[in-house]
Amino acid sequence: MYYNSIIDTVGNTPLIRLNRINEGIEGTILVKVEYFNPGNSVKDRIAIKMIEDAEKEGKIRPGGTIIEGTSGNTGMGLALAAISKGYKCIFTLADKQSQEKIDILRAVGAEVVVCPTNVPPEDPRSYYSVARKLNETIPNSFYPNQYDNLSNTQAHYETTGPEIWEQTEGNITHFAAGVGTGGTISGVSQYLKEKNKEIFTLGIDTYGSVFKKYKETGEFDENEIFPYLTEGIGEDILPKNVIFELIDHFVKVTDKDAAIMARRLAREEGLFVGWSCGSAVYGALKYARKHLKKDDVMVIILPDHGTRYLGKIYNDSWMKDHGYLEKREFATAQDILKDRNGTSDLITVSKDTRIGEAIKILNEQGISQIPVVEGESFVGSLTDSKVLHKLLDNPELKNQPVSVIMDKPFQFVSPRDTLDVLSSLIDKNNKALLVRDRLNVVHIITRHDLLMAMSN
Ligand SMILES: Cc1ncc(COP(=O)(O)O)c(C=O)c1O
Repeated sequence: MYYNSIIDTVGNTPLIRLNRINEGIEGTILVKVEYFNPGNSVKDRIAIKMIEDAEKEGKIRPGGTIIEGTSGNTGMGLALAAISKGYKCIFTLADKQSQEKIDILRAVGAEVVVCPTNVPPEDPRSYYSVARKLNETIPNSFYPNQYDNLSNTQAHYETTGPEIWEQTEGNITHFAAGVGTGGTISGVSQYLKEKNKEIFTLGIDTYGSVFKKYKETGEFDENEIFPYLTEGIGEDILPKNVIFELIDHFVKVTDKDAAIMARRLAREEGLFVGWSCGSAVYGALKYARKHLKKDDVMVIILPDHGTRYLGKIYNDSWMKDHGYLEKREFATAQDILKDRNGTSDLITVSKDTRIGEAIKILNEQGISQIPVVEGESFVGSLTDSKVLHKLLDNPELKNQPVSVIMDKPFQFVSPRDTLDVLSSLIDKNNKALLVRDRLNVVHIITRHDLLMAMSN
């Protein structure tokens, strides 16, 4: 058995039960994992439908160009469909989108135009306006406009909705999905409610988007609009595909809660999914915790794959920079000293001590490094491995003073330096660190001390 083209593999994605993240929640929580589509997102479904409907209506002819304002996933779907059907693609993207998404689109042959994020949609620089303008100027071009093109909703009515109904054998009671263009939630909801009007649909929105307030008050409140980071959901416009009568309730999820939940899905469920998947699961579980009953079955759509966010939510430095990951509290040099009850453990040798004598001290004390002093000053250091090598070369050295073979003194650190800093300073050239406490007493910190502190 084989497929005639990559686009024939779109759809029929698996429905998978959550087993850990939903702990303490009644009912069954299932996720529909859309990254199993060939373009790794739910948008493959609408891409084909929009193009095929346009072909039927004569809106695009052979050799034409597809132009779309897309957050990346729709572009990927359109690019795959364009390859199968022989069209060119130009996509406009907002510059908040991840570099990976842009690179992927270019990899599948599309031309990508990056536009500023923080301008209103009607601004001529916005990615909506640039896409429209290109459509007006390029002959035989088709602008699918996933926001207002109802083929988007129809694609989900024809495929995603029936798949969910069949996969749950009609037992679904709640459906949850992130709302961007609205196609997913509107199409699936319409199909499911026709099958069973009791099925409850939950839209997941972001802070910074207009949907929730519009649903609850009928007011398009511009004060709700502010820049946010989650990609693919929430809007500052009302797309025609968001059919509010088909959505029973909205919950809003923050960028941070979504990012942390996406990472949990990867670690705890093995679902390496995109950022907005975190939004959908976080929002849906928040609702489920309050409202779901034992026999209820909730289905949540997970729109895309984690690879597109490797430079963002799956990058620990990025997460820390955005305040999404707690910076780990490390022990300090002072904490390490505290565990020694204030006693100074510092054993030193004078620079005039004979090497043979210094070896005896190392052995008797069971230590492998020792600071070398001259009066009050730290003038050098000695390590057992260095002494061993030198004596192997020249056994006579044992009658010489340590100053003949000593290395540079151990580095002083502050009592406030944390374990991560301390460990970066200890290496093969600097076997130990020195720290002066409030009473001016000098202590030594070795690799062994750092390991002990890590294990506490
Ligand atoms: C990653 C991601 N999640 C969710 C959505 C929302 O789906 P819909 O546009 O069907 O409302 C999109 C749409 O762009 C998306 O790209």
